[in-house]
Amino acid sequence: MKASVIANKEYTISKIDDRVYGAFLEHLGRAVYEGIYEPDHPSADKDGMRGDVIDLVKKLNVPVVRYPGGNFVSAYNWEDGVGPREERPVRLDLAWHTSESNAVGVHEFADWCATVGTEMMLAVNLGSRGVDDARNFLEYVNHPGGSYWSDLRIKNGRKEPWNVKMWCLGNEMDGPWQVGHKDADEYGKLAANTARAMRMFDKSLELIVCGSSNSDMASYPDWERIVLEHTYDHVDHISLHMYFANRDDNTPNYLGQAEKLDTYIETVASTIKQVKAKKKSKKDVYISFDEWNVWYHSNKKDREILEGNSGWPHAPGLLEDIYNFEDVLMVGLILNTFIRRSDVVKIACIAQLVNVIAPIMTEKGGPAWAQTIYYPYYFASVYGRGTALQLVTNSPGYETTHDKNTAFVDVSGVHNEEDGTLTFFLVNRHTSESIETEVSLQGFTNASIIDHQVMTHPDLKAVNTAKNQEEVAPKKGTGAKVDGDTLSVALPPYSYQMVRVKI
Ligand code: AHR
Repeated sequence: MKASVIANKEYTISKIDDRVYGAFLEHLGRAVYEGIYEPDHPSADKDGMRGDVIDLVKKLNVPVVRYPGGNFVSAYNWEDGVGPREERPVRLDLAWHTSESNAVGVHEFADWCATVGTEMMLAVNLGSRGVDDARNFLEYVNHPGGSYWSDLRIKNGRKEPWNVKMWCLGNEMDGPWQVGHKDADEYGKLAANTARAMRMFDKSLELIVCGSSNSDMASYPDWERIVLEHTYDHVDHISLHMYFANRDDNTPNYLGQAEKLDTYIETVASTIKQVKAKKKSKKDVYISFDEWNVWYHSNKKDREILEGNSGWPHAPGLLEDIYNFEDVLMVGLILNTFIRRSDVVKIACIAQLVNVIAPIMTEKGGPAWAQTIYYPYYFASVYGRGTALQLVTNSPGYETTHDKNTAFVDVSGVHNEEDGTLTFFLVNRHTSESIETEVSLQGFTNASIIDHQVMTHPDLKAVNTAKNQEEVAPKKGTGAKVDGDTLSVALPPYSYQMVRVKI
């Protein structure tokens, strides 16, 4: 089987916003406790943060981390997490039926972000709270001093304001599972009022309003239209979430779900345009895809705790999906979609970062390791920076439950002018056939391959564990070559590859 791709230097989509390679960390399960924070761990630093996790996060070059939730934020009092640790209250977390010790709050998270070299993206609680707490939290975090909340921050040990630019106006407010769930009109008015108050403090903030929790919600896509009609002039991004699952154990259909993601983005981009036209506005609103990943492996196991049959445990193992090889392909496809839609998707966060539906797993007192999906995320984040190319791809396809014709070969291309490289991320969705793929490099001269990484495995269900951490890991590829202006790559069945070319 054969496929062809045209990569022309002049045909570009957009400069990719680095923040599409962001991540998310929620007070949920063992994400924070035993994830990033474990004071008794042998690798812990002076702040009790796990050094082995810091190393794995640093390698990913994560540009932004969204915090503290998620569903958790909708009943969270941020003040509980500041001040002397021994005085912080233990609270019940209604979202996940657990207890929250508040040993980690915004100060500890901010210090950790500085250590790993990432920017904070904070969410305010628009579930159980509203405008007043949002403005107080903002003043605490961003005001230099001389006011009640900023002076409290200084008293609590942080002199300089953090100057956080990105703020989420609540989380998944369309979901009936959310504490303080609202309909689109109620939420739209609250979000607009909150945004107005926050902007009175600082016009330059980047505000993110809640879109749909997923594209199967009954309120979608009217939710986006109504919410944007209330907030268009006051926000910069609309947040979308989507999780992927292979519940029927049907890999071709599972991998076809990437098409659904593309349609979701396209529909919301059109809704943004519709509201922009209605408002006669010159301003653009973009998409913040601030929760995405595969999530289903752990669903059954979590039921006991989520149904409240285990009391209110502190930091239990929740949403601990163990990812397999086919999830590598899914994550590669999702990231390819974000690169191709970098004209409208300016922020995206893998959900989440550690232990909870995460690329990084830890054992209490033991090792930290990379799950299978760590690698496609790593390659995209580290090498997928630059300008997205408008590729013309010609590949045979197949029918799925989502689409009549899904291409076997999925590819994205990134031109980095600064370092003079072209990077291609390729996924072959074919069950059994290798696909010879020829990429015509137009306008790029003297191309030579500088890196070629391949992920493939005979067992789609193979996983990495604490004991066998490299069962699924990238290997140096051998089959790619450049002849004149043609790059040829052989894509084995069910494979993920990254090919980098110096130009
Ligand atoms: O990431 C896990 C949960 O998924 C988040 O708390 C919520 O926003 C979404 O439903």
